[in-house]
Amino acid sequence: MDLAKEIKRRRTFAIIAHPDGGKTTLTEKLLLFGGAIHVAGAVKSNKIKKAATSDFMEIERQRGISVATSVMGFEYNSLKINILDTPGHEDFAEDTYRTLSAVDSAIVVIDAAKGVEAQTRKLMNVCRMRSTPVMAFVNKMDREAKDPFDLIDELEKELNIKTLPLSWPIGMGASFKGVYNLYGKQLNLFSGSAKQHIDEDVVNISDIASPELEKYVDSYAAKLRDDVALLQGVYSSFDVDAYLRGELAPVFFGSALNNFGVQELLDCFCQIAPHPRQATTEERIIDPFEEKMTGFIFKIHANMDPNHRDRLAFLKICSGAFERNKAYLHVRQGKQLKFSSPNAFMADKKSIVDEAFPGDIVGLHDTGNFKIGDTLTEGEKLHFTGIPSFSPEMFRYVENADPMKSKQLAKGVDQLMDEGVAQLFTSSFNGRKIIGTVGALQFEVIEYRLEHEYGAKSRWEPISLYKACWIESDNKAQLADFMQRKHTNMAKDKYGRDVFLAESSYALQMAQEKFPDIKFYFKSEL
Ligand code: G4P
Repeated sequence: MDLAKEIKRRRTFAIIAHPDGGKTTLTEKLLLFGGAIHVAGAVKSNKIKKAATSDFMEIERQRGISVATSVMGFEYNSLKINILDTPGHEDFAEDTYRTLSAVDSAIVVIDAAKGVEAQTRKLMNVCRMRSTPVMAFVNKMDREAKDPFDLIDELEKELNIKTLPLSWPIGMGASFKGVYNLYGKQLNLFSGSAKQHIDEDVVNISDIASPELEKYVDSYAAKLRDDVALLQGVYSSFDVDAYLRGELAPVFFGSALNNFGVQELLDCFCQIAPHPRQATTEERIIDPFEEKMTGFIFKIHANMDPNHRDRLAFLKICSGAFERNKAYLHVRQGKQLKFSSPNAFMADKKSIVDEAFPGDIVGLHDTGNFKIGDTLTEGEKLHFTGIPSFSPEMFRYVENADPMKSKQLAKGVDQLMDEGVAQLFTSSFNGRKIIGTVGALQFEVIEYRLEHEYGAKSRWEPISLYKACWIESDNKAQLADFMQRKHTNMAKDKYGRDVFLAESSYALQMAQEKFPDIKFYFKSEL
């Protein structure tokens, strides 16, 4: 086994999109190129559809699907590509954010008619925070779309990143002719009937001044020439280092559904996307090429069968080679663990794997040892950073609805929080337990799971809060004054840290103005 070679051929990334942007469709097309699946429709959407939210068996079924699609690996042009799923829709949860801590790059999919939408913006903020390299795919060009120049402007402004179009659309909607590959100087003609195939109609046109262009795109030729001239005046050549620093996003146009423009995206991705990068721990920087294995848990998925309480913990390998049946140090617990059946994920299947490398995700069967953020090493005591909790946006009090089952409730809440399903706060004012989530469906999932997996009945009461912020200050007097004045809004998180529960954005703003020495954080490191 050549560790360096294995690392260099790995590309681990996430596709970011607002629900319905085309993430599932694009994922499927990428798997089709990789030969990992053979027909479109093979990857089940992991979306928990709104209509199904009252049907809890449906939620369970969907959870099963989302395990299968959590990580999809495939081989393409001697690369091992791992796509990490970022669930969207109503099941949008902290998991979605946290998955971005395990990727080395991202592809953001934008609906050409809708432009940049809320969820994309939120997820991109996480990418920006981590300087994750990003490419953009403007999807659904086969429909009426916004003007491409406006879209590029919107991307730059809304996502706060410089862009560089590498392909350019010719027409849109019913008159969508195709895209011009600005760097390959090729014309890709759209036929609209390639859904199940992976070939496109490509014509090499090195000089778009050539009258040959009219032959293919008739009256759109002049517009394309004007657009390209304008682009050449505005954009300089592609600076790959700026992309790798997370400052510049190359942009492609196409239609995932029609499998159009996907090949260019994938080929460019393979050329420029980074192999696993360095990771940061509190103690030191970890280089992926180090011989000793290190990794962290970024996601935990409970078994769907309540009779088998085991869970699947997702380990992102950061350095060295992971081996089956080898003992690793679980740093937080200070004990050695061996894994006899670690899972690897290929396409939508999982299988037992003997070894895995940086960039890979391994599924470890767990009976309650792991929490999000836990580290495995070959003995060194390391703590990975950059796996934060994010400020929840929805809050409810949780109460025990069955006095005989208070232990079960406490245990259930504790374990679900370890899984990172939601966050628990305890009011410093009245001791009541508050659960915060980033997606509304999580409350229903928690209530259902508490009852079915832990035998605990819970009662929920909404609280109108804007955000939970972790607070900190070197000015101890000011901090104490703040906590006293705001004592009805103070709480402790699961780790005993002080959290301010702001009732409105106005209340938060006032607090920030009146107490300038206090830092308000919207995410916490675990
Ligand atoms: P998501 O995972 O980001 O939520 O999006 P998904 O791929 O499920 O796509 C959302 C909808 O947009 C789907 O239609 C899909 O077929 C459609 N779509 C994706 N890419 C394109 C494209 O390039 N052009 C056009 N015209 N449509 C596209 P749906 O009706 O919601 O679902 P389905 O019944 O087709 O599966």
